[in-house]
Amino acid sequence: MGNDLSKLQKNAHSTSSLNSWRSRKSTTASGGSTANVARIPKQKQKPPKKNVPVKNTQSFTEYELRKKKPRNSEWKEEKKSTPLHMPLKAILDGNFKSPVHNRLMAGGMVLDVGTGPALWGMDVAKEYERSHVIGVDINDSFINVGAKIIGRPSNFTFEKVNIFEPMPFPDGYFDLTFSRMMVMSIPRHKWPSVLSELVRVTKPGGFIELVEINFQSFEPGPIHHIISEQTSTAMTKRANLDPDVATTLFHKLSAYSDLLFVNSDHVPLPVGWDGVIGDALVEVVTNFFQSLADLGVMDATGITQAEFPQMVHEATFVEGPLYQTYYNLHWAFAQKSMFCGRIS
Ligand SMILES: C[S@@+](CC[C@H](N)C(=O)[O-])C[C@H]1O[C@@H](n2cnc3c(N)ncnc32)[C@H](O)[C@@H]1O
Repeated sequence: MGNDLSKLQKNAHSTSSLNSWRSRKSTTASGGSTANVARIPKQKQKPPKKNVPVKNTQSFTEYELRKKKPRNSEWKEEKKSTPLHMPLKAILDGNFKSPVHNRLMAGGMVLDVGTGPALWGMDVAKEYERSHVIGVDINDSFINVGAKIIGRPSNFTFEKVNIFEPMPFPDGYFDLTFSRMMVMSIPRHKWPSVLSELVRVTKPGGFIELVEINFQSFEPGPIHHIISEQTSTAMTKRANLDPDVATTLFHKLSAYSDLLFVNSDHVPLPVGWDGVIGDALVEVVTNFFQSLADLGVMDATGITQAEFPQMVHEATFVEGPLYQTYYNLHWAFAQKSMFCGRIS
């Protein structure tokens, strides 16, 4: 009953937001006044800045972004495939949270699961020259993009692996087993078997770490609200994905008796505000929403394919800074017991 009521309220909210967006657009198109949202001076509209604890972002300077930004289409490629590496590294204050720095300095084995263009894997390999990083992915076409951007170090290797099958590594092989941004690739029911494989290949005493974005938007504007709600619904219904998997990482790792000291936390990802990270993320979110157009994400709302790109732009570039929209990035890590597999 309560659910039905909130559904009705949500739909009413969505329909009126959509209609008001359409009427603003048609006024603009017919030479009338500009859309309300765009016309209001940002300074006056902007709500008081919330105390959102974006953790130490000092290492992610504009300089660093520019330095790493190639002047050709490679940057576009990076955006399409793994747009988030640099912003995520900055926002998490490093490539990982697990306390494996000393191990990797001394020389260890690292696994990057669903490596994509392997910017994370190659970055870690460069940082820890005595360690070896193996990036696995079912698709080997992204890897050259990453190599061109960051330069492929000799202590990084790629292996074509389907993570829905047993991985070709012995038990207890890796000091750090890492997986990031797999929410769009692992269906809800496959998470347990994938995680069991990650636990299996991690060394006793080694660490397993997961990093995922929660697809629930916070402080969205009205258009952003429609798009993000529909995206989550489409992920769940059409692709059997779990848009909220990020919020379950702690419980997922805690379910393994072999895993100890489970840690987890989250940090906000600002969409189009709060400086250079927000600027990078607004493009990421825009590209992501645009890429969903073909999935018919908006079918249920009656939004047409022609309207969609404009709505996405308004949701991210206009509403994002205005409402100070953000998503949460969740991470969790745990240590594999030294005594796992022993029979007492
Ligand atoms: C969004 S990308 C994540 C890239 C990388 N982890 C990062 O954070 O930058 C998801 C990756 O998972 C890979 N993937 C999807 N299904 C897979 C499977 N069954 N086995 C291995 N990799 C898979 C995709 O090819 C893609 O490169």
